Amino acid sequence: MAKKMRETITSYILPILLLLLAVQTNAHNVTRLLSHHPSFSSFNHLLTKTYLADEINRRTTITVCAVNNSAMSALTSKGYTISTLKHILSLHVLLDYFDAKKLQQIGGGSALAATLFQATGDAPETTGFVNITILRDGTVGLRPDGGNLSSFFVKSIEEVPYNISIIQINRILPSDTASAPTRDPEEMNITGIMLARGCKVFAETLLSSHRASITYQESVQGLGGMTVFCPGDDAMERFLPKYKKLTAPKKEAFLQFLAVPTYYSMTMLKTNNGPMNTLATYGANKFQLTVQNDGDKVNLKTRINIVQIVDTLIDEQPLSIYRTDEVLLPKELFKASAVEASPPAPEDGDVADCQKPSKGKANGKKKKAAPSPDDSLGESDSPAEGPDGEADDVTADEASGAVRIVGGAKAGLVLVVSLLNLFASFWLL
Ligand SMILES: *[C@@H]1O[C@H](CO)[C@@H](O)[C@H](O)[C@H]1NC(C)=O
Ligand SMILES: *[C@@H]1O[C@H](CO)[C@@H](O)[C@H](O)[C@H]1NC(C)=O
Ligand SMILES: *[C@@H]1O[C@H](CO)[C@@H](O)[C@H](O)[C@H]1NC(C)=O
Ligand SMILES: *[C@@H]1O[C@H](CO)[C@@H](O)[C@H](O)[C@H]1NC(C)=O
Ligand SMILES: *[C@@H]1O[C@H](CO)[C@@H](O)[C@H](O)[C@H]1NC(C)=O
Ligand SMILES: *[C@@H]1O[C@H](CO)[C@@H](O)[C@H](O)[C@H]1NC(C)=O
Repeated sequence: MAKKMRETITSYILPILLLLLAVQTNAHNVTRLLSHHPSFSSFNHLLTKTYLADEINRRTTITVCAVNNSAMSALTSKGYTISTLKHILSLHVLLDYFDAKKLQQIGGGSALAATLFQATGDAPETTGFVNITILRDGTVGLRPDGGNLSSFFVKSIEEVPYNISIIQINRILPSDTASAPTRDPEEMNITGIMLARGCKVFAETLLSSHRASITYQESVQGLGGMTVFCPGDDAMERFLPKYKKLTAPKKEAFLQFLAVPTYYSMTMLKTNNGPMNTLATYGANKFQLTVQNDGDKVNLKTRINIVQIVDTLIDEQPLSIYRTDEVLLPKELFKASAVEASPPAPEDGDVADCQKPSKGKANGKKKKAAPSPDDSLGESDSPAEGPDGEADDVTADEASGAVRIVGGAKAGLVLVVSLLNLFASFWLL
């Protein structure tokens, strides 16, 4: 009986499950599509270097207006910084599907398309829109808002209806706003940005550690850029008594632990789930954190606790700074007891813990939002339990916009995990 069951699982159910999981991966890969066209290698390379390729792959119903290598040289010869190049290229990604046929059939002779430049919020006013016009002679012109009409449709390069269309235009779209200089990484005042955007306490703490401050500054100027996860002021304020008890080297390690020596946009965080090294990772000191997206939210976790990203202070390659709802605690410096005040056991652990939750867990989950270990930190300062504490929890969750109740993707994962567990138990029979 057990054997039969096992066979059934192996031959039917597991493949279906794997298929279900596979469907969630992206359908197109702009890098691969363009790699079939060597005369667009320069454009393709820059899409990768600016991480716009990730952004494009994540979306559907999209049009990429590419230029060939000779037209690219007009752009690359200008000495633009990587973040300016990113702005310019993001203007070349239309958030609608236009293949050769659809371009010729634009109703009324013209259409206005929003671009990724507009969508990222980097474009002032409507400068991130592109006006597509069919001219009298039938050629199709593309003109960015506030720019001149000097770019024209040449031909279709790749069409995957209606997910992605890659078309060739003869030259880069001219836009003063997209090509405006952005901040130089050396001039990026990390603590200044934090001070102004809700991470004042953390910024001050960082400034008080000379060595940690230097590590941050060096990292943002390093090859990979930097991503910082600074705790919001209330959370950091509550944490300060614990911080003050650390020795100086531990304080330094803690501060360095909250930054990663790689630039990650929000999209990249959502697609790069898993453990990451931090500025504190050195030799035997792992000081890793794990990134995991939860529907549209991004959580960070260690063995000790889970925190959620609630705001983006800056996202400008090579630097991004995100605010978290609570202080992420490295397991190297804190014991799990730091959060033991939490009434039910936190939904703990690393990715590997997927195996842990038992069948019963799914029920528990539906009933109520997962108890967030974050709350327990707060409780260490406000011993009040009962109704008072509960009210706090509710507001904290609302403030962070955290919907911890099972969302679509999470429900799917929970289902799959529970099923896998179920199978695992049969397996052992
Ligand atoms: C288009 O995208 C959807 C959603 O990502 C995907 O399911 C579908 O397979 C894609 N179509 C093609 C032709 O790649
Ligand atoms: C896209 O294709 C490129 C080149 O084939 C490959 O290096 C890259 O890993 C692919 N990206 C994804 C997300 O599959
Ligand atoms: C696009 O530009 C043309 C010419 O500048 C203008 O006549 C047309 O109204 C514009 N189309 C839209 C949709 O804004
Ligand atoms: C548009 O053309 C005018 C005149 O040729 C020129 O002065 C201006 O700089 C151009 N604007 C852009 C954004 O290229
Ligand atoms: C690149 O595109 C331009 C504009 O369409 C064209 O004149 C030129 O011949 C192309 N160069 C190559 C090498 O295809
Ligand atoms: C960074 O900003 C803070 C606050 O605005 C300011 O006090 C500090 O002097 C600035 N640092 C640098 C290096 O500009």
